[in-house]
Amino acid sequence: MCGIIGYVGTRDCVPLLISGLKRMEYRGYDSSGIAIINDDKIHIYKKKGKIEELEKGLLQNPHSATIGIGHTRWATHGAPTEVNAHPHTSFSGDVAVIHNGIIENYSELKQALLLKNHTFRSDTDTEILAHLIEEFYEGDLQKAVIRALHRVEGTYGIAVLHAGEPDKIVVARKGSPLVIGIGDGEYFVASDLAAMVEYTRDVIFLEDGEVGTISREGLTHTTLEETRIDRKSTHIDFSLDQIEKGGYKHFMLKEIMEQPHTLEDTMRGRIQVDEGNIILGGLQGHLDALKKAEHILLLACGTSYHSALVGRYLIEEWARIPVQVEYASEFRYRNPLIEKNTIAFAISQSGETFDTLEAMREARKRGALCLGIVNTVGSTIARETDGGIYLHAGPEIGVASTKAFTSQVTVLTMLGVLLGRQRGMSAEEGRNILGDLRKMPDLVARILRTKDDLLDIAKTFSRASNFLYLARGPNYPVALEGALKLKEISYIHAEGYPAAEMKHGPIALIDRKMPVVFIATNDNVYAKVLTNIEEVRSREGVVIAVASEEDKGIEHLADHVLRIPDCHPMLMPLLTVIPLQLLSYYVADILGLDVDKPRNLAKSVTVE
Ligand code: G6P
Repeated sequence: MCGIIGYVGTRDCVPLLISGLKRMEYRGYDSSGIAIINDDKIHIYKKKGKIEELEKGLLQNPHSATIGIGHTRWATHGAPTEVNAHPHTSFSGDVAVIHNGIIENYSELKQALLLKNHTFRSDTDTEILAHLIEEFYEGDLQKAVIRALHRVEGTYGIAVLHAGEPDKIVVARKGSPLVIGIGDGEYFVASDLAAMVEYTRDVIFLEDGEVGTISREGLTHTTLEETRIDRKSTHIDFSLDQIEKGGYKHFMLKEIMEQPHTLEDTMRGRIQVDEGNIILGGLQGHLDALKKAEHILLLACGTSYHSALVGRYLIEEWARIPVQVEYASEFRYRNPLIEKNTIAFAISQSGETFDTLEAMREARKRGALCLGIVNTVGSTIARETDGGIYLHAGPEIGVASTKAFTSQVTVLTMLGVLLGRQRGMSAEEGRNILGDLRKMPDLVARILRTKDDLLDIAKTFSRASNFLYLARGPNYPVALEGALKLKEISYIHAEGYPAAEMKHGPIALIDRKMPVVFIATNDNVYAKVLTNIEEVRSREGVVIAVASEEDKGIEHLADHVLRIPDCHPMLMPLLTVIPLQLLSYYVADILGLDVDKPRNLAKSVTVE
């Protein structure tokens, strides 16, 4: 995701900003830029693509300065282009802003600024902020920033320069991290400790609703209400590697633990609970086509295919439109039939999976309207589709997909409600589903707090040679995903099956060495799943059940129980997958395997 670095002091800040940006490369980005102040003027350098491009440009046109800010952008509003890269400047060019986060009311703010004859160069929400700060500027940058932030809804970590106050950087945070680093006669600011640990380890963490101004003379630290804050600095003694992973041992664990936040980000600004409605900006131009759609086709690979399978249950249930889910690689080569009024969704975390891209092109050739459900903004699938829905889950670095899956299911839930509401779903039903969807980040956080229980179970089963995962209904794809996660990173053979299909084959495999993971949640097939559990027990299989916190009876049937809170039955996959992700993670870690880069696998499969 986006990264912020800033410096004010006595050294030449240009190499320092570049090295700080490079330290944040692991987070993923698509463009970068810096702003420095020289001769009381702001100078901006930006480039699309790698930081090396920015660096090359700066070497050809050398500059030095002792104050500056730098940014790596991971696009959320507007394509990943040089114009959309940060820093963004105000109308006069006197204000430069870098920003992490999303300004939700940016179009409203933009309208107001357009009425005051502002013109904008980029498609970003951040540029609006630079203009707004200029509107409020009366000789004191910190005050202008505070006034502007009082008008902003959404999340931000920002660093701001003003040509008229060439020795100050104003920083502020709400929902997006920022840390101030303290040196000798110099200050740093960064969104990520990794960007500054090379220079200082004495830091002050900014909290939400706080503002700071750093200069060579010191730090002013207040709330947005201008109440002074005197916070002591903290000394950091983690290694750089630990810092990049947010203190977690692996990116995969970090990404699993991030899910309460990524789910918030996926939903932000898109859900109107009171009206029971969904607003998806990237589909606005296609609402008529969605209303007329008679067939939905979901094309995907790997984990994304599993989220598509969950999507089928949701869309068919709520919108009553037939949904076809296809492995992209199979779809391409089987002379597929595309009916009239078919909308195809290409689902892909990376947006670069070759088979998904080609399947999408094939569907378009055969007359389908093609939309995307993609995480990486500006990726090939995102560019080639006619519209779509971004996940906003941030870069996923662990090869085994986790947070992208839950964000995909969240997007498909929102899509299901949108299609349902177009076809007679009542506002009340919409409200019920969306009210429960809004609770998911908290419920996921609740499951994550029990992660040590999973560690204990993983210790018990890390030497198993095979696992079976069984479930029904919308949890069936979660069984497939649980099995995929385990085999991807622990190399233990695992199979997912619809629970009732067990008797047509897998039951032959069951003996006392076979752990069987059942998802047995509180839904219309619960009693049936219990019967399947009995069948496994009577063949001495070991049962690990994912079950409701309220389900006391399950303890008599299962050898181990992984507890999850109750929720709307169709939203269960968002919860049931969490213990399965953790179980795979811990098994692989106990086995001492390379969790983030499992053998033979790639994060983005750009070949056939
Ligand atoms: C690879 C990754 C998987 C991913 C799949 C589809 O196999 O290792 O984690 O689910 O590709 O990737 P996509 O980026 O299209 O979702």
